[in-house]
Amino acid sequence: MSETTAKPGEIDFFADVEVTQNLPGYLGGLRSKCPVLREPFHDVYMVTGMAAAMDVFQQQADAFSSSIAVTGPLPPLPFTPSGDIRAQIAEHRSEMPWTDHLATYDGEEHAAHRAMMSQLLTHKRLKANEDYVHGLVEQLVDSIIDRGACEITEDFAHALSTLVIADLLGVPEEDRQSLLVAMGPDPTQMDGDQGFKVGPDPLVHLHDRFHRYLEQRLREPKDDMLTELAQATLRDGTDPGLTRKACLACFLFGAGQDTSARLVAFSFRVLGDFPEVQTKLRSEPDRIPAFVEEVLRFEPPVKTLSRLALRDVEVGGVSVPKGATVTVCTGGVNRDPDHFADPDSFDYDRSTVRDHVSFSRGSHACIGAPLARMEVRVALERFLANTTDIRISEAHHGPPDDRSYSYEPTYLLHGLQGLHVEWDKV
Ligand code: HEM
Repeated sequence: MSETTAKPGEIDFFADVEVTQNLPGYLGGLRSKCPVLREPFHDVYMVTGMAAAMDVFQQQADAFSSSIAVTGPLPPLPFTPSGDIRAQIAEHRSEMPWTDHLATYDGEEHAAHRAMMSQLLTHKRLKANEDYVHGLVEQLVDSIIDRGACEITEDFAHALSTLVIADLLGVPEEDRQSLLVAMGPDPTQMDGDQGFKVGPDPLVHLHDRFHRYLEQRLREPKDDMLTELAQATLRDGTDPGLTRKACLACFLFGAGQDTSARLVAFSFRVLGDFPEVQTKLRSEPDRIPAFVEEVLRFEPPVKTLSRLALRDVEVGGVSVPKGATVTVCTGGVNRDPDHFADPDSFDYDRSTVRDHVSFSRGSHACIGAPLARMEVRVALERFLANTTDIRISEAHHGPPDDRSYSYEPTYLLHGLQGLHVEWDKV
């Protein structure tokens, strides 16, 4: 059932860029062997089936650590897991990349910080942000619509997602444009023959900036989320301090930024590749939310959710030993034929359309999912209403029967490296 020796020609999911070019094919290949398969390069238990993924999500509070949620098996742990693994993680956390961020916290520390952050995402704040999104989308669409063509990731999606999350937090208007270029490279870059490289945390650039905002808000409170974060305490009344709060703000910003941009780009790709879908959506715009769910299932912007087993645990009927790395592959789970009928077809009418795991599940499930869904919906509503035909540029991506797209070379994120589209204006 589990194969632990690399065979000639086998592909290393975590290092080989080839995987990114045919993700469904690669993950389907793993699942056909076993939905919980121990891959041979890094000894990772790759989860590609729905039932097995649910085993991970349901047991994640007591059986797994999320300390490796971002980086997965690379670089290797700075310790050999044994005995009390939680204590080992606590001792070595500072040597483990990316572990400053909420997604990698465990247990009560995670629950308390997550509760504090969730409290800030009030209905009132999200509603005000939605009003902003409508205005922003109008402005961005107006700025490109007459051109009849654009590269959607740079010319539209990146600006949309960055400015939306900046508004949600309350970043001053005059600073927002500079945020469009403030991010560094994505984490977990693959490096072809050189193997992997877990890049420097791109959010580090933002830390000082958010620390400064939080200090300013303590001195001069405003009606914004940064002020509420600066003043917030954990549920036991303790204040985690501005350094930690700046990390939380940075992560919220980073998590909300290019994930949503990737979803926008994939939505346009589907619209271009399936013209009959856009015709239907123009006549039934209230089906756009279901369309967005199916895009999330089809092309999940976050492709791996990694966990460290704190004890021996069963996942999908497979025994996973204490200390092992388990990686839930969202793209594999989302196309499990035991759960999604005809999984390789794009069908937003399927009854299971919201069952994907693209926002994860359980204690670490995405807290920004409502915002992501809203901003992509508003963008699509406006774009579809202002156009009669959205097409993939054949000059850049080839004809419909021979498309070529390239994908970002990371094992954590799934995104298009540019998408050129054209349209006819209403
Ligand atoms: C299409 C857009 C998005 C996708 C696909 C996405 C995906 C995810 C996934 C898969 C996780 C869980 C990681 C894990 O279980 O290890 C997550 C966590 C998180 N997301 Fe999102 N996300 C998106 C948008 C957003 C937005 C807009 C925000 C901010 C408003 C956000 C904030 C967060 C935060 C703070 C966490 C950490 C939650 C925790 O660990 O408790 N995300 N996201």
